[in-house]
This record gives sequence, structure tokens and C-alpha cells, in this order.
Amino acid sequence: MIEGDFKEMKPNSVSNIIQLGGTILRSARSKDFQTPEGRRKAYENLRSHNIDGIVAIGGDGTFTGANVFMQEYTDIAIMGCPGTIDNDLFGTDYTIGYDTAINTAMNAIDNIKDTANAHDRLFFVEVMGRDAGFIAMRAGIATGAEAVLIPESRTDIENLIKTLESNYKNKKNACIVVVAEGDDAGGALKIAEIVGQKFKEYEIKVSILGHIQRGGRPTCMERVRASRMGIAAVKALLNGDRGRMIGIINEHIVQTPFEMACKTHPPMDDEMQEVARILS
Ligand code: F6P
Repeated sequence: MIEGDFKEMKPNSVSNIIQLGGTILRSARSKDFQTPEGRRKAYENLRSHNIDGIVAIGGDGTFTGANVFMQEYTDIAIMGCPGTIDNDLFGTDYTIGYDTAINTAMNAIDNIKDTANAHDRLFFVEVMGRDAGFIAMRAGIATGAEAVLIPESRTDIENLIKTLESNYKNKKNACIVVVAEGDDAGGALKIAEIVGQKFKEYEIKVSILGHIQRGGRPTCMERVRASRMGIAAVKALLNGDRGRMIGIINEHIVQTPFEMACKTHPPMDDEMQEVARILS
């Protein structure tokens, strides 16, 4: 929008892309859009191409920007689709990218468990989630991790060591601790170092999964939900709706105002935390 780089899209522009990760639009975080001058350029370019409606796909940064833009330029209507692997937007049970990311993390941890079991190792596996532990929690439960460390709850290292000791006494020959990158006790490297000074029963290894979680073939659920949300966003624009993010709650399409979607981080489900604890 800022560079005036527009391309008219026809139905065949999106053929054969449903199985791809990433974005064919190549849209990304923009420093220019954070300035009034950048937004003015975007507005002028949109107007000169007769564009008066936008579907913004992204997370809280995207919707914060969309909201400011709509307040400044009231003749442009914006609807949003939630796109972030972190699943940390209020107003939807799923964000686009999350299901693929948790399955990628789960498969990677399954592979790590093979070597952990073969060689009596304690693995600290770091998954993405700068401010949110949803990927860590789901991937941790799905792989039977001994502990899941997330930013939403305080990490107690002494308690973690007790859990690991009891696993060792119960003759588990390997342990997996899943750490969200934004955990309050630090990332996997730091936590592994602290634990390693006090707990020496297993050989300790650290694996940081990183950006493999941000790409790859989308899961079936992802493709279906993203298709539903995309269609709902376009229908909403045609209907005159604006300033709202499309979401799916209890399998129904819903809308949430941008400011609510990005200001409120959904809480970590207590039941999930209990499940992770009981199964550790
Ligand atoms: O905010 C979403 C997120 O996936 C975080 O979990 C992660 O820390 C970050 O993006 C990675 O961003 P980048 O690809 O810019 O390093």
C-alpha cells in the first residue's frame, strides 16, 4: 500500500496456493506504516486505485495499525483475519498458522524423543511464543512432556527439578521439558544451564525449534478454517461491516472489534495446565 505496488487478482491468482505456508503477498511488519506519513502515502495510493476496503491478515500489530488507519481515514473499511502461530488473539479459538505450528512442533519433539530415549537424555525443547505459551502447552501435552514452561505462569526451577528427580526415580529413561521462548525464567538454554548445575542424573541437551514452526504445509484444519474466515471477511466488508476481526468460536464464525482482539490476551486454560501437570 505504501509503495503503491498493486496487482489485480483474479480467481486463478490463488490457484494452487492452498498447500503453501508463508504469504504470496509478501506483506510483513512495516516501520513506515507506524508513522503518519507512511499511512498517508498508503491512503493516497489506495484512493488513486479506487480501493475502499481491505482484509488485513495478521496479529495484534496488524490490527493495532488497521485501527489507527481507519480512525485517520474513515472512508477505508478494514476487516481482519487472525494470522499468527501464537494463537494469542482474543475473539477466536484459532488463529491461522497455529494448528500447523503445533503439529510441526509435535512431530519435531516426537523425533527428539527417539534419541532422548535411546541415550537417557533430558531435553529442553524451545518452541516459539514470545508472549504466549499456547504452542508450548499443546505440543507439550501431545508429546507427553515431563514439564511445560510458559510465560503465563511463573516458572519454579526447584519444583521442576523435583519433577525431574521423581521421573528419574520412577525409571523414566528420558525426559522432555517444553519451554516457550518467552518463559519468565529465560529460554531453554538458560533454564537448561541452571537445572544442569543441580541435577546431574541425565545428560542434558537443548533443542531450539525456531522458524521451522513458521512454515510448511498447512494442516487440513488450518486450510478449512482459513478458507472460512477469508470468505467471512469479504462477505462482512460487502455487508458494510468494518473495524472487526473475524474469528471462530465453538466452530461458529464471529466478529470482534480490533481493539478488543489485540488488547486482551486470552488466558491460558486452567484445565490444560492441569492436564500437563497430571500427565508429567
Ligand atoms: O509473534 C509471533 C511470533 O511467531 C513469535 O512467537 C516469535 O517470537 C516471532 O513471531 C518470530 O518472529 P520473526 O520471524 O520476526 O523472528
